[in-house]
Amino acid sequence: MSERHPIEVLVVDDERPTRILMERELPQSGCKVVAVPSGEEALEVLSRQEFDVVLLDLKMPGLGGVETLRRLRTSGVTAEVVVLTGHPDVDTAIEAMKLGAYDYLTKPFKLSEVEAVLRRAAEKRQLQEENTALRRIVGRRDTGSVILGESQAMRFLLEMVERVAGSSAPVLISGETGTGKGLIARTLHQASPRGDQPFLVINCSAFQDQLLESELFGHEKGAFTGAASAKAGLFEVAHRGTVFLDEVAEMSPAMQAKLLQVLDTGELRRVGGTKERRVDTRIFAATNKDLHEEVRAGRFREDLFFRLNVVSLAVPPLRDRKEDIPPLVEHFFRQFRLPGQQKKSVSPEVMRLLMQYAWPGNVRELANTIERLVLLAPGTIIVPEDLPSNIRPTLDLPSEEGDAPLPLAEVERISIIRALRYTEGKKAPAARLLRIDVKTLTHKIERYNIHI
Ligand SMILES: Nc1ncnc2c1ncn2[C@@H]1O[C@H](COP(=O)(O)OP(=O)(O)OP(=O)(O)O)[C@@H](O)[C@H]1O
Ligand SMILES: [Mg+2]
Repeated sequence: MSERHPIEVLVVDDERPTRILMERELPQSGCKVVAVPSGEEALEVLSRQEFDVVLLDLKMPGLGGVETLRRLRTSGVTAEVVVLTGHPDVDTAIEAMKLGAYDYLTKPFKLSEVEAVLRRAAEKRQLQEENTALRRIVGRRDTGSVILGESQAMRFLLEMVERVAGSSAPVLISGETGTGKGLIARTLHQASPRGDQPFLVINCSAFQDQLLESELFGHEKGAFTGAASAKAGLFEVAHRGTVFLDEVAEMSPAMQAKLLQVLDTGELRRVGGTKERRVDTRIFAATNKDLHEEVRAGRFREDLFFRLNVVSLAVPPLRDRKEDIPPLVEHFFRQFRLPGQQKKSVSPEVMRLLMQYAWPGNVRELANTIERLVLLAPGTIIVPEDLPSNIRPTLDLPSEEGDAPLPLAEVERISIIRALRYTEGKKAPAARLLRIDVKTLTHKIERYNIHI
């Protein structure tokens, strides 16, 4: 892991001397440096360019370092972050670490310290990238790939998965976006006798015909412009393993014909090649369209449909299996918990809202929502105010209909929120409305973690 590209560093500091120092000195130890004076500009640059490490000053006017870090994490930036702090700021540095910063340096620091931490951070990132690439190829082996499902529908599906794992038959997995088709495909592969062999995923909608053909079946040297050397396709590489054709409905008619032929004969020919090659590759296909309907409309070959649809797994949308929501919520809070952070949970009212919501993006949307709550909600117990507005449609309070009894504490909490809303957050009049004194109110506001 020694020789590779320079470490790309983004320096974010409102102090000009620090920026100049870094821009001048770090390139001598093999870094490429871009320096900006504010969090806002950092986010802007990061949306356009990838960096290995961000050196982030915590104390800046405008967006502070911690807020910058938070936003950068929710916008999917994967760079390692090293925060820079003055001495009195160590508490904030710790907060930054909880938000996933890699390390911190206290000002004034030595240049050698900066170089050392940059190297370590870049190495960690490199390792992570290698792992991700590896996982993409061999499939996930870690325990992250459990499929949760308590609903009747999911239990039935999981039984099917178990039953068909042993065979080599093609499997067609259908379901709306985010329902867990990818997860089920991986799990099914791992549970099969091919589990130790490659599991390769290709998204059929992401390639034009010629590229898709060469990705799937490989090509010989000089087969087309840019084919500088021969390359094996996924079907060959996944010999004895599984190829997962994601979004299979997006395949062009020409590609559908080619795929059908390979499935029929068990042999393929690389693009530009003459030799037939035998492959033993199991096929999974997934689609979020109704493939029957695609066949009826003449957009998908019926013969290919029958070939792929030997085993058919239909994953129901999350709104049709609401019993799965509570265990999934718990699972994602655990999964996304930050190091050193107490695991968060939701108030009964929030759970009710989560179960009422229709989840058009299914489990993925739920996972993203919980991840945001882990990062952004201030308290350990999530309250309705923390939810994005589409999930808590108008009023955050439970509707008056529905006669399920509420826990007394919940009634008290709701009353307090109502009163505070009525008085626009002013405590003294709210306390009067509630017929308690301000001290008691303050105490309860803290206890219920109410944010005014
Ligand atoms: N039953 C489940 N238990 C645990 N995690 C799940 C479950 N279903 C889905 N997930 C998680 O939700 C996310 C979305 O799932 P996945 O990517 O498999 O959906 P998909 O149906 O393939 O979506 P798309 O159609 O957009 O490709 C993943 O992070 C997955 O691990
Ligand atoms: Mg998928």
